Amino acid sequence: MKPITDIIYNELKPVISELFGNDLLDKLVIQETNNSKFGDYQTNFAMITSKDLRQAPKKTAEKIVENFKDSKVIDKIEIAGPGFINLFLKDEFIITSLINFDKKDFEFNLDTRGQVIIDYSSPNIAKPMHIGHLRSTVIGDSIKRILKFVGYETIADNHLGDWGTQFGALIVGYRNFLNEENYKNNPIEELERIYVEYTKAAEENEELKEQARTELAKLQQGEKENTKLWKEFIEVSLQEYEKIYKRMGIEFDTYNGESFYHDIMHEIIEILKEKNLAEEDEGALVVKFDEEANLHNAIVQKSNGSYLYTTSDLACIKYRREHYDVNKLVYVTDHRQQTHFKQVFKIAEMLGWKEEKVHVYFGLMRFADGVFSTRKGNVIKLKDLLDKAKEKAREVLEERNSTGDLDTKAEIIGIGAVKYADLSQNRTSDIIFDWDKVLSFNSNSSPYLQYTFARISSLMKKANVKDFENTLVIENEYEEKVVKNILKFPNAVLRAAEAYKPNLLTDYLYELAQSFNSFYNNVNVIKSEETQLKSRINIAAKTAFVIGKGLDLLGIKTLDEM
Ligand code: ARG
Repeated sequence: MKPITDIIYNELKPVISELFGNDLLDKLVIQETNNSKFGDYQTNFAMITSKDLRQAPKKTAEKIVENFKDSKVIDKIEIAGPGFINLFLKDEFIITSLINFDKKDFEFNLDTRGQVIIDYSSPNIAKPMHIGHLRSTVIGDSIKRILKFVGYETIADNHLGDWGTQFGALIVGYRNFLNEENYKNNPIEELERIYVEYTKAAEENEELKEQARTELAKLQQGEKENTKLWKEFIEVSLQEYEKIYKRMGIEFDTYNGESFYHDIMHEIIEILKEKNLAEEDEGALVVKFDEEANLHNAIVQKSNGSYLYTTSDLACIKYRREHYDVNKLVYVTDHRQQTHFKQVFKIAEMLGWKEEKVHVYFGLMRFADGVFSTRKGNVIKLKDLLDKAKEKAREVLEERNSTGDLDTKAEIIGIGAVKYADLSQNRTSDIIFDWDKVLSFNSNSSPYLQYTFARISSLMKKANVKDFENTLVIENEYEEKVVKNILKFPNAVLRAAEAYKPNLLTDYLYELAQSFNSFYNNVNVIKSEETQLKSRINIAAKTAFVIGKGLDLLGIKTLDEM
């Protein structure tokens, strides 16, 4: 099935082409209405073309309505206000669409050639993953699932922070302060501890700092012992991250960290010099931008010869262009990296690297109850957050006298709640994490959607109706509302894909679940007879299908009972 807006577009297109030619087709945009009084869908085509057509919108709208021929999709077409065109769907169209809903694949009219590389999670080696990486991981994973669903081939790339000055300090710390026992039991925590201990000690000890510089230089020159240690740090860190990824259902196609691009960085410098895009400035090599770009100079090589984050990301783009058939490059990080990516993208453009590049940035996350607020110098650890979510979910389940395997249920609900809390917010704003809201069974939360899904599963079991898939009769406003909402699913996914905003999908799912629950509370499904019963079970089944699919696109699991 196609998004309904695409189907309607195709209905209106011939009329518009015939009346006004093809040039204005870009302006034919179909939208869902937010009030059924104005039809199911709407277009403001007549309004936004009044200048092009030198014609009052009302006149244009009248022409379109007059010339609109019978259609299998549109029942009624009306002019509203100064020139809006309201469109009402035909019952038969609604019914056949719903009946075929999960039988046919979804079709999206997008240019999905090549691959989309999504760069997300990307924690920094030897440090526990923190809340910022949670957001990148959860948002990146959902965007990957959504883009796949609309037809792209995706490459999930974990761009680990596995290169940088901290390794000099870590090596010195490792040799001077290591607690073997801790390192065996909890390597990342021990690495973090020795890093902190080194930092404290180095404050008053110039010699330690000098040592760190020496060890870093050795590592950068490929000295054996240091390289071995560095590799070990990466390995033990990855093992820890893997535990979290596994727990959260996160998978990557590649783990090409910053170090992977190290050997390409000098090529970047050469290319930039050759194209006269970089110049010397107080010993460093910098790229300067034209005034229009409104960006600070970007340093690509320091006076001591070392490279920077910008250089590494340029090397990374060069690599990706050469090894993939890039459709788009997508980067998921917090908003503090906006300038960085603007500079990188601008330099790429100056180099003639034309592929579409998107920085999907997000705000910070804070905790309402203070429990997880950042203590001085101490970042919130993801594992602790997930454990806490599970514990709280279990409390809620016990309160509700849930039975069965509470441990598994609590894990699924807890992790779903954490993911949903993150995904349901407009990602560009900062968010406040409030346990009560996050775990609530009756607000815009994942437990609410999981609960609605479980409710439908138990209804289906209890009703035990067979061969309902081809039956649909719409008899009341509740049924009508749910059915129309179900059919909006492809559009909701498309909106989320185009804006890289999973919250557009959560908004939709929440509305669908609400409309289903109000149908369920107002219509006695189980007591209905024959055709009506089949039809109602069909509506319930399709709702569950969409909620299940939708949650899957958010990386959230469902439960058959809660
Ligand atoms: N490791 C970085 C951080 O934790 C994020 C890397 C994002 N990806 C990239 N290609 N720069 O801040």
